[in-house]
Amino acid sequence: MNNRKTGRVCWSSPANIALVKYWGKRGVQLPMNPSVSFALSKSKIKISVEYSLESGQTPGIDSFTLNGNTHDEFLQRIEKYLLALSDYFPFLQMARLKIDSISSFPHSAGIASSAAAFSALALCICNIRAELNDRPATGEDFFREASFVARLGSGSACRSVYGGLSVWGKTGLVAGSSDEYAVRLGEDISSPGITELNDSILIVDSSTKKVSSSGGHALMKEHPYKDARIEQAGSNLETIIRSIREGDIETFGQVVENEALSLHALMMSSSPGYLLLHPNTIKVIEKILDFRKDTGVPAYFTLDAGPNIHLVYRKTDHARVIPFIRDELLAYCENRRWLDDSVGSGPENLNEEI
Ligand code: PMV
Repeated sequence: MNNRKTGRVCWSSPANIALVKYWGKRGVQLPMNPSVSFALSKSKIKISVEYSLESGQTPGIDSFTLNGNTHDEFLQRIEKYLLALSDYFPFLQMARLKIDSISSFPHSAGIASSAAAFSALALCICNIRAELNDRPATGEDFFREASFVARLGSGSACRSVYGGLSVWGKTGLVAGSSDEYAVRLGEDISSPGITELNDSILIVDSSTKKVSSSGGHALMKEHPYKDARIEQAGSNLETIIRSIREGDIETFGQVVENEALSLHALMMSSSPGYLLLHPNTIKVIEKILDFRKDTGVPAYFTLDAGPNIHLVYRKTDHARVIPFIRDELLAYCENRRWLDDSVGSGPENLNEEI
């Protein structure tokens, strides 16, 4: 390429919450076990990438902003990521980029933002290549490649390139599933299947975690319960997929809560062991169990690798759950903070908006 080429692409991508957790990796960002998650609707990150390509120029990032501010830690992580991608995308070897990102949720909210960020960035990179090759930035192959590319930035990000439910990790239960990228689950799910879910995110503590997810994944390599965990995740995946298809919310909820507690039990039993739960996480969990027992409303908790609670329930139960959150749970949240989210429809191409 001799002539200078310039352009701009923009994508918004959601965070996701895992129902069966990815915990532990092998090789280059390959999962130790398959996982399933759903995309959120409101918790999103929008990234625009302005590019200028010219052969011979030194590649790099001219500027990076998050919500209008520079951010050196993210900038360095993105620079490393783009360098690793330049074998797959030779145009990156002659690209100068300006990257601006806007998050719909506060960075300090304790919601895993890296999945949304790397998914949006991967979609932008794949979009630039599509533009250079005069191909549309859409279709099954496009999203599969974006999922592969997102995975290299942050494992769980590969599940954020789709709306609804997605599965990452090779399993005989889902046709076309792979360790290298995620696939959608559930386009064929219809009534009485579980499709319409809410996720009320209760922010118990937004401070930075003492042990990062990558630290936790690494501890799974020599974990005494590693084999048992792989078996448990496979069996939970099978049960949850069946319960989703059959609309069996009680079995679904049992698996969701078992996965949340197992994830944190694995952290506690790692060597060295560690604890990411906050005393108020336990209080909220107990309140949720009592609420379910007293009212019969099927609302279940799950957790990411952190102290904040995701309360998952059917949309039709929203009116019964909201007063419970207000009256009984917000007292345990940091500054009464929570986010009323739900299953979302996935990334959006915003090229036309810029
Ligand atoms: O994608 P990572 O490396 O941030 O790991 C995410 C791990 C969990 O959020 C705890 C589980 C998951 O499957 O998303």
